[in-house]
Amino acid sequence: MTPNMFSYLSLFLIMTSTLLPSASGVDKSKFKSCEQSSFCQRNRKHQPHEQKWALDLSTIRQDGLDVVGLLADQNDENIKLVLKLSLTQKGAIRMKIDQMNPSRNRFEARESLNPTLTFKQLKVIEKTDERCSFSFGYSSDPKKDQRDNPKAEEYKLILNAVPFQAEVLNAEGKTVVLINSRGLMRFEDHKDIQTAAPSEQPLYGAPVKAQAYDEAGKPINEEYPDDIERASPSDQSETQQLESSNSEIRSYSETFSTFVDQRPYGPMSVGIDIHFPTSDHVYGIPEHADSFSLKDTGPNIGDPYRLYNVDIFEYELHSPMALYGSIPFMMSQSKTTGTFGVFWLNPSETWIDIESNHSQTRNAGVVDMISSFVSSDKKMTGRFTHWFSETGLIDIWLMPGPEPATVVTFNAEVFGTIPMPPVYSTGFHQCRWNYYTGDEVMQVDRGYDEAEVPLDAIWLDIEYTVGRSKKYFTWDPVTFANHNQLANNLSSKGRRLIAIIDPHIKKEEGYDIYDEGNAMDLWVKDATGRNSYEGWCWPGASMWPDYLSPKVREWWATKFDPAYFPGDRNTLVDIWNDMNEPSVFSGPEVTAPRDLRHVDGWEHRDIHNMYGFLMTKATFEGLSKYRSHLDRPFILTRSFFAGSQRYCAAWTGDNQARWDHLKITVPMLLTLSISGMPFVGADVGGFFNNPESDELLIRWHQAGAFQPFFRAHAHHDARHREAYLFQGQTLELLRNAISLRYTYSPYWYSLFFESHITGMPMMRPHWFHESYDERTYDLEDQYLLGYALLVKPILDKGVSSIDVYLPGVSGQTAWFDLNNRAMYQGGQSISLPVGLSTVPLFQRAGTIIPRQYRIRRSVELLMRDPITLDIVLGDNQGKSYAHGSLYVDEFKKLEADTDSASLKDILYYDDFLYVKPSTNADIVHGTIERIIIYNWPANKRIKSIIVAPEDNNYTNSQTLNFKLESPRQDGTSLLEIRKPQLSNQWKIWMLKIEALNP
Ligand code: NOJ
Repeated sequence: MTPNMFSYLSLFLIMTSTLLPSASGVDKSKFKSCEQSSFCQRNRKHQPHEQKWALDLSTIRQDGLDVVGLLADQNDENIKLVLKLSLTQKGAIRMKIDQMNPSRNRFEARESLNPTLTFKQLKVIEKTDERCSFSFGYSSDPKKDQRDNPKAEEYKLILNAVPFQAEVLNAEGKTVVLINSRGLMRFEDHKDIQTAAPSEQPLYGAPVKAQAYDEAGKPINEEYPDDIERASPSDQSETQQLESSNSEIRSYSETFSTFVDQRPYGPMSVGIDIHFPTSDHVYGIPEHADSFSLKDTGPNIGDPYRLYNVDIFEYELHSPMALYGSIPFMMSQSKTTGTFGVFWLNPSETWIDIESNHSQTRNAGVVDMISSFVSSDKKMTGRFTHWFSETGLIDIWLMPGPEPATVVTFNAEVFGTIPMPPVYSTGFHQCRWNYYTGDEVMQVDRGYDEAEVPLDAIWLDIEYTVGRSKKYFTWDPVTFANHNQLANNLSSKGRRLIAIIDPHIKKEEGYDIYDEGNAMDLWVKDATGRNSYEGWCWPGASMWPDYLSPKVREWWATKFDPAYFPGDRNTLVDIWNDMNEPSVFSGPEVTAPRDLRHVDGWEHRDIHNMYGFLMTKATFEGLSKYRSHLDRPFILTRSFFAGSQRYCAAWTGDNQARWDHLKITVPMLLTLSISGMPFVGADVGGFFNNPESDELLIRWHQAGAFQPFFRAHAHHDARHREAYLFQGQTLELLRNAISLRYTYSPYWYSLFFESHITGMPMMRPHWFHESYDERTYDLEDQYLLGYALLVKPILDKGVSSIDVYLPGVSGQTAWFDLNNRAMYQGGQSISLPVGLSTVPLFQRAGTIIPRQYRIRRSVELLMRDPITLDIVLGDNQGKSYAHGSLYVDEFKKLEADTDSASLKDILYYDDFLYVKPSTNADIVHGTIERIIIYNWPANKRIKSIIVAPEDNNYTNSQTLNFKLESPRQDGTSLLEIRKPQLSNQWKIWMLKIEALNP
């Protein structure tokens, strides 16, 4: 067969195999289980204190701002570790354990850290013969000596010397975290290959012609180009060996399926146990398609949660299997001690076991062996977690609460927050694999306009490239001949064109990206470190840029000069980075072999989980450097790691058009949101297959409308289902769902701003604000959008009534049902009838939400429209009360700065409404056209409503029109104040409602 014929056949086979998703779901045999991973086995089988770590207290000393000391294994004098403790400016502690004089350095994920992160002096506050301790915790202004909230700072970290253990106490002296209390700390010292036992020597199987696989892991061809080779499955007894006793477990080369991982450095895994004795609930460690409150794992239950970025085809729900991204961050929540966050900063493959007391079997009796350091009441309660990674450091960040918001502050300090998004990206997006021509894109654009459904972005999948070659940064000269004009037409309506750019670079001479990559030596290398690695992905034979190298990232960034791509300096196209786990069809577990080489000799295993992160970092740097004259960058990624939020939004990959996949979106997105990655969404409608009914599609749009990233997408084999293609009731309900989101645009934008500044996610579990309310701890089908809105999406088929839990305390917390206009006290479950048109939403009493009710084609066209303030009054010691805020800016700058932005604080108190700016700027895009108070006490009659431009100055006051609806059963009525004419007095104004004496 000629090479060309080969490529076409392969492409055909790839296309057909992805056209026909199997009915059976994920093929588990393509992905490693813990049984098949030797380091997972070794760590799971690690006996308590198998390595007897002792901290030599005599070595504890200040090292600049930090404190360092030495750890030794009392069973093996040869291995010495350096423990380094650092204190962030805001008061989180980093506990880093590295090897002293290692023969091979261990990778530290520096790129992942927020570049603005700084540290302050950490001091030993107490030292005895057995232990030493430190204080830490939140300090709102790190420069101040007198801190605002001394209580919050009173966390104490105590290090016990023998055995080495760490304990965190809160301000009341309660133990909230224990580290290594079960003695599972493991630090594998790499042995030179020469000194390894013969049974441990790596296997270099004879290279054979390999099979190639598609994304689903299905063989796509029998033949393979001669120059792509990989090792043979020469060791059939591997699994047996893994299952044999601990000492026999092979540490060097490991076979999986037909792949041999050569592991020249042998065992380098690290692990430790972290116990939350007061918490029954732990959350985080995305990405898994599982419950929000994490489940127990353990050898008797199944695999640990796995973090290993992979392209998984038809993923399974309620599973600890790895998905596309990883954030090794966990939050624990306890009624008695509040919230605590732990980050395990390690980008190599990581597994996490979680056990509660009742599921402990593996280490029964262990707790009794633990020194008296841990009192018996703490030993058996709460959740135990056990973390282990294939290589790298033990790099633990302790982020104390007790409030969830405080933990979020630390996460934001260490890993950064989202950039301000371009406004359009907060609207509705329409994607499909693929819109095949520019005309088709314009049809979608027209379709939405004609059906009067708002839309902000149209997406191009991989087929826009020249000849559908998947040569990124190229356009097909026929189907996308006028791509710049196409993008500009969309931009003129406030819409955007977004194009996919994947990391696999087609191996084809004459393709400039490939030629440059070769000439400049930019590709990831094979296991020898000498030759560029070649694998298989959409374009056929491909190369992968080594984004770990700053040189490669700089080169990649230049490709986002709009003069190069899309091809005109003034044309705006945003970017979708997909397949960046990286997905390698010909690789083990559909990804890159672990023994590939990156810059400075790092193995791929050292950095695997941050490959996608590094790609988006390079893309972001390109867009911000070369495109700042046009708009803020927007990037969507499939793969992510800690810190990805600084560069991109993420979505949950290839879900299915099924009810259970709609349902899992909420826990999956909540998990990402609390882990520092708040700009997230799931394919609306489901990627694979067709929704069984219009009902599913409608419910999915209604749910997606209240999730941060709102994009409909479908596989090329699925029927077209763009909203405008429907008629009658379906069209109306899809239009209503999407339009409803747009009415909340100023609220969304203000929430994005809050997240940009503080890290607070837009989508929040109820316990973020009602942390005392234990009934919220395992809620995962309703959540808060910001502080003010309770969202209860309908996620089941044929629903005619819903049960909603309204969190809080009766008399203190109340919720206003925006559908039936009834007020309910907090702390109760209610049942409500719903129809297909119902989108259950509740506004918290005591809040003000800015909205824009005019329906426009896009968010950008709407953002300068007049604003309505939706007020639900609360009660503050007998006085009516409500609070909200509105953030506005010029929509262009990357960072929100006070010169070009304005944050309005809106306060209602005792019949006065004040608007006060918190910044110097006085940006107003539109007037306030309406103020709605939903629950005005009907017996309180109004004499007049007047508005004054400044505090206490009524000389120029005006009397306003208002309308009071007839009272409802609960004695309230809706008060609507029309045209308060405040456009020029936005800076400080005050509105006074004068009531008649009863
Ligand atoms: C996989 C992505 O998850 C999917 O959204 C996309 O359509 C295909 N790759 C093709 O690019």
